[in-house]
Amino acid sequence: MVRGGRPFGDAFPHIRVTPPGPRSRALGKRLRRAESRNVTFIGDRFPVFWEEALAANVRDVDGNVYVDLTGAFGVALAGHRHPRIMRAATRQQQRLTHGMGDIHPPAAKVELLERLAGLAPWPEARAVLASAGSEAVEIALKTALLSTGKPGILAFECGYHGLTLGALATTHRDDFRAPFRKRLYDGVAFVPFPVRPEEMSPSLASCERAFEDRARRGDAIGAVLVEPVQGRGGVRIPPRGFFPELCSLARRHGAVVVADEVFTGLGRCGSMFAGPALGLDADLICLGKALGGGFPLSACLGRAEVMDAWPESAGEALHTSTFLGHPVACAASLAFLDLVESERLDRRAARMGEHLVARLRDALAGVGHLSDVRGLGLLAGVEIAADGNAARVGQPGAGARIATQLLAHGVMVLPAGERGQVVELTPPATMSRDLLDRALKQLARAVIDSSE
Ligand SMILES: Cc1ncc(COP(=O)(O)O)c(C=O)c1O
Repeated sequence: MVRGGRPFGDAFPHIRVTPPGPRSRALGKRLRRAESRNVTFIGDRFPVFWEEALAANVRDVDGNVYVDLTGAFGVALAGHRHPRIMRAATRQQQRLTHGMGDIHPPAAKVELLERLAGLAPWPEARAVLASAGSEAVEIALKTALLSTGKPGILAFECGYHGLTLGALATTHRDDFRAPFRKRLYDGVAFVPFPVRPEEMSPSLASCERAFEDRARRGDAIGAVLVEPVQGRGGVRIPPRGFFPELCSLARRHGAVVVADEVFTGLGRCGSMFAGPALGLDADLICLGKALGGGFPLSACLGRAEVMDAWPESAGEALHTSTFLGHPVACAASLAFLDLVESERLDRRAARMGEHLVARLRDALAGVGHLSDVRGLGLLAGVEIAADGNAARVGQPGAGARIATQLLAHGVMVLPAGERGQVVELTPPATMSRDLLDRALKQLARAVIDSSE
């Protein structure tokens, strides 16, 4: 039990020592020496080191209890350490912890692949498993090239698809790309991602131009890669009607459509896949994050006829990896998918998301520097504008400032957006309403205080 008589997992924030406390600070010093300095930002008020997490709570090494509105990068849709996922993983781990994915595969791999094929929006589907979201993107891009013979890629401004070299070529943010530009494939055309109805036609016209220009240049576009809702780019939701047009444009030019549902998929946005609900009729779907129920697992799922562009294996897979089809991750994933279906986590995410957005809009009505509160299911964002800026230009770094302030009050959120102007919210769908409301109240207070 945590103070207030609520059990850990559903407890209100409880800060015993101003974060980061002495133990977190000591770990920060050790980390600084042992890890590449680029990886973990260590500042005066950041980070705290996690010791334990359950459902919607995280406890740090100094005993502080937080409410996790991040779902740990959107992974914990079912909450941290859901007992049914833990039981399935433990059972599997006691029999087989690691197999030989593409040589003598673990039986659990077959079950998961069949399950994914059953969920897919096509009559027949096949998949390739991997560990990280960016790998799923790599597989989709390889598949698209095999299937169309065209190397070019159409991707979107503000899009995020991961940081491995192939995926990074399609990720838009310049600070991620700049140091590695010379290694990035340059056949990617970036076009604006519309978020308002009036931006739709200009975006589609840019797509059309990109198809024509690239075909003339000799690197014709064979893949259109798009997030149904741009997550890390700032929770950007396209207008209804955009995706059907985009898909017919892609098909007219002989390109396959890749939906990057690493963030949006598996219930997070209120349905099993966010794409179909928005009219995105994809040929390939990338999954990750929530897929492994907390274990590293990703997948590229595809229409059978597109996936069958891969040649039959003659003994050596053209694409595989050591941990492909990891049995514990597969077992955890099956338990997670059971939960999504039996507990209707997708519907819960839809309902909670509507509540969350309505609550925040209410609490923040009339706040001058609030630009927008938006979301689809439990992928929500609060955008902060620069003070006194009628055009509502984002306040750079506001997301991180609010995240740091909230951490001191026991609420975890993440920044998002190309200028860091958004607070991103991806809480577990299993969180209780009163705990969510309590955390939202604190968030609203932090937003109000964030005026420049
Ligand atoms: C839409 C999307 N695609 C791909 C990725 C990359 O996934 P990973 O970090 O697991 O490589 C992310 C990660 O945030 C993502 O949001």
